[in-house]
Amino acid sequence: MHPEVVTEIPGPKSTRLAAELRRHESRNVTYLSKEWPVFWERAEGVNVWDVDGNRFLDLTSAFAVAGLGHGRAELVHALTTQAGTLLHGMGDVHPTRLKVDLCAQLSALTYERWGAGEGKTVLSNSGFEAVETALKTAHLATNRRGVLAFEGGYHGLGYGALLPAGFDKFRAPFASQLADLTTLLPFPDSEGDLSATRARLAQLDASEIGVLMVEPIQGRGGIVIPPAGFLSLLRDWCDAHGVILVFDEILTGFYRTGALFACDHEGVVPDLICLGKALSGGFPISACVGKASVMDAWPVSAGEALHTSTFLGHPVGCAMALEALRLHQDPATLAAVQSVARTLGEGLQVLQMPGTSEIRGQGALWGLVFEDGAEANRVVLAMLQAGYLLLAGGPEGAVVTFTPPFEIAEDEIGSCLETLLGI
Ligand SMILES: Cc1ncc(COP(=O)(O)O)c(C=O)c1O
Repeated sequence: MHPEVVTEIPGPKSTRLAAELRRHESRNVTYLSKEWPVFWERAEGVNVWDVDGNRFLDLTSAFAVAGLGHGRAELVHALTTQAGTLLHGMGDVHPTRLKVDLCAQLSALTYERWGAGEGKTVLSNSGFEAVETALKTAHLATNRRGVLAFEGGYHGLGYGALLPAGFDKFRAPFASQLADLTTLLPFPDSEGDLSATRARLAQLDASEIGVLMVEPIQGRGGIVIPPAGFLSLLRDWCDAHGVILVFDEILTGFYRTGALFACDHEGVVPDLICLGKALSGGFPISACVGKASVMDAWPVSAGEALHTSTFLGHPVGCAMALEALRLHQDPATLAAVQSVARTLGEGLQVLQMPGTSEIRGQGALWGLVFEDGAEANRVVLAMLQAGYLLLAGGPEGAVVTFTPPFEIAEDEIGSCLETLLGI
């Protein structure tokens, strides 16, 4: 089903809501202009309807959360059933059976599946909290302060998560309150660059570095795929220097890249893995899962957790995550991603879109690189007008990114690419 635009974009209701929002929400949160945004009202599968009755084809999965589709019936059922039974609990004091099952499932799908023993989990709400759990865990495990990360890396915006941030624009306004603990390396995107990474690592004094935080494929950084051997290079370096290796798979996890986790493509096992977004398919829940030996750097609770939060192990989030994990294990999910990889990947290649310099991606995660941010922005806006939801990423905003729900049909991708070529 192709998009259906029945009003100007944004329509009159969206325009009115934008004016109201301007009055009452901090002006930094929602970008508001004459042309942006539309206000969402409902969504189903690959379609989103706005308050003015326009139907959009969603090529974003709403920040790569709804890979299984918007409003997926099984997830809605898990949510409503659980909400009617126990809407909120006391996650770290009087937990639920669901938390037990979710932690066990996460262990089974990570460290046990990787043949690395059992995994242990700390649950949280947003992605950046899982990142901060990983940073704290690494500090407890190594007693070292230093953080190694990559330019263009995005790990969320909490104060802790800003330590490994590879985007200066997010750090700079708060830099005076952030400890100067971070070394940033360039993220490699070609064979040549890998030898540069190897050389840089060899020169580093690792004695004060406790953690290496990396996205196996950079998402917000502009869908940057490193050369084969990158993750094993990092694994070997961390092993040699006693540094905790963290894979931030908050974006890449759960088949987004064509494997359950992006690190599965290379068969490299991290010490800690951060998960979020598609973990539940729509409820704010995240997890830091670690090798039991590393996670046991945390002392046994003597009555009060050193790291927890009010909504940790939320019963609705756990119920949805368990259902999402079940759906992800259905072979139909991988088959759907493989079909998107073919149709979208090949479609972008043959498109030969003028003004673009590169197409990169795998699975259901693709980026089209434009000359600059202004051009990518123009394309995103024109596509919105035509009924397609897209986002721009990359350090300069020059990469139009595609992270569609896995069930998107071939003809929907076809109509999107045709429209793209015509704007
Ligand atoms: C790789 C990665 N890590 C961390 C985060 C932060 O997650 P959240 O926005 O849920 O805090 C994101 C969000 O886009 C992400 O892509």
